[in-house]
Amino acid sequence: MKAISIGLLGLGTVGAGVIQIIKNHQDKLMHQVGCPVIIKKILVQDINKTRSIEVEKELLTSNADEILNDKEIDVIIEVMGGVGATKDYLINALRQGKHVVTANKDLMALHGSELLTVASEHGCDLFYEASVAGGIPILRGLVDGLASDRITQMMGIVNGTTNYILTKMSNEGRSYDEVLKEAQALGFAEADPTSDVEGLDAARKMAILATLGFSMHIDLEDVEVSGISNVTEEDLRYGEQLGYTMKLIGYAHREEEKVEVSVAPTFLSDNHPLASVQNEYNAVYVYGEAVGETMFYGPGAGSLPTATAVVSDLVAVIKNLRLGVNGRSAVTPQYSKQLKDDGEKFSKYFLRIHVQDEVGVFAEITSIFAKHGVSFEKILQLPIKKNETSEIVLVTHRSSLTDYDQILQKLTDLDAVKEIKSAYRVVRN
Ligand code: NAP
Ligand code: HSE
Repeated sequence: MKAISIGLLGLGTVGAGVIQIIKNHQDKLMHQVGCPVIIKKILVQDINKTRSIEVEKELLTSNADEILNDKEIDVIIEVMGGVGATKDYLINALRQGKHVVTANKDLMALHGSELLTVASEHGCDLFYEASVAGGIPILRGLVDGLASDRITQMMGIVNGTTNYILTKMSNEGRSYDEVLKEAQALGFAEADPTSDVEGLDAARKMAILATLGFSMHIDLEDVEVSGISNVTEEDLRYGEQLGYTMKLIGYAHREEEKVEVSVAPTFLSDNHPLASVQNEYNAVYVYGEAVGETMFYGPGAGSLPTATAVVSDLVAVIKNLRLGVNGRSAVTPQYSKQLKDDGEKFSKYFLRIHVQDEVGVFAEITSIFAKHGVSFEKILQLPIKKNETSEIVLVTHRSSLTDYDQILQKLTDLDAVKEIKSAYRVVRN
C-alpha cells in the first residue's frame, strides 16, 4: 500500500504531540497499517514562530488551500481549534474525499451531526476520539465496547484544567489565579480558559458523550452549565470537614426515555471513585443496565496523551482504507430527544447561608425546607464574630430541582437571610 499523506491543521500543544507520536512510533504504525505515514503539510498562523519541536520549515504554510486542494493528501488531522473557518475547512476536505480526524469538541458539539452527514455522503471517515477526555478511549468504549448495553448514567470529570485547579486548591491551599496560570503554562487550558473554568468545555464534552451514550441527539443548549470560578477556598475547607471533595462533574442520566445533562461543581463523598481523580486526570463513570458500573480513567489533557487518541483515530481511518469501508461506521441516533422536567431531576444539595444571629431564624429556615418535604442529612451552625451574623451550613437529602429552586427563592426573600454564600450539588457513593 502507498504511503498515507497527512495534512495537519495546527501545530500547537496537540499538533506537536501528533508529530512526535507519528515519528517515534513509526515502526508500530507501519506494523498496524502496512504503509508509511507521512506529514505532508502543516497549517499554522505564523510560520516564523519558535516551536516546541523541530519541523522542516517547508512543511509549514499559513494558506489552508495548499492542504485542502492537495490531491495527494488522504487525511486531514485538525488540531487548530475554533469553529467558524475550521468547520468550512473540514466540510471542504470531506467534500474532496479526504478523511478527517479532529480533537475539536467545540466543533463536534455544535456541528457534529452536520459534519458526520457530509462525511457519510462522501464515503469519508470523521473520527473525534480526542475531543472528549484526552487520552482516554471513552468514545470507542461507549460506541464499540458497550454497544450491546443500554447506558443509563454517565458521570465524569471531563475537564483537565478545572480538575487541576480544584486539586491544587484543595491539597496545597494555593490560589485559584495562580493555579489557573500553571494549567495554562502546562498546555491543558483552552486558548481562552473561560470555557474551561465556566464549564463550557465540559458541557461540550457531555453533549458529545450523551449523544453517543444515549443514542439521542443532545444539543449544547440542552446541557445546564455552571463552572468553578465562584468556588472559594472556604467552600473547599467546609467540604473537607464534612468528608467531601469538590469536582466539576458532568452528569448525564436517563430514566425511561427521558434524559438530563448538566455540568456543575459538585461535592463528592471522599469514598466516591471520582473523588480520587487528581490533577489533569479525567475519569468517566458509566452505568449500563447489563454491565453495571464501569469507569474509564486517564490523562484528560496535554500534548502526548491527546495526540495518542488523535493518532489512534488515524490508524482506524487507514485500516478502513485497507478494507474499503470508510464512511460506514457512524451510527445515527436511535431515539428522538426527550428532556426531563425540573420536577424529574433529583439531587442532594450543600448550602452555606449567612443569617442574622437571632432567636427563631433557624426555625424559620428549617420550616421552608419542611414545607417542601426536604429533610437534612447534616447541619452546622457557627457564629461569625463580626456584625451579629451566623453561618449555617447544611446538606439536604434528595430534593427535586423544582423544590430546590423554590426553597432558594424563599430563603433569598427572608429578611433574616443576609446572603446565600454557596450552593452545590452533593453526590454520595
Ligand atoms: P494551541 O496550542 O493553541 O494550537 C493551535 C494551533 O493551531 C497553533 O499551531 C496555531 O498556529 C494554529 N492555528 C490556530 N488558529 C489558526 C488559524 N486560524 N489558521 C491557521 N492556524 C491556526 O491549541 P491546542 O491546545 O493544541 O488545541 C488544539 C485543539 O485540540 C483544540 O480544538 C482543543 O480544544 C483540542 N484539545 C486540546 C487538548 C489539550 O490538552 N491542549 C486536549 C484535547 C483537545 P500558531 O502556532 O502559528 O499560532
Ligand atoms: N482544556 C481542556 C481540558 C483540554 O482542560 O480538559 C482537553 O480537552
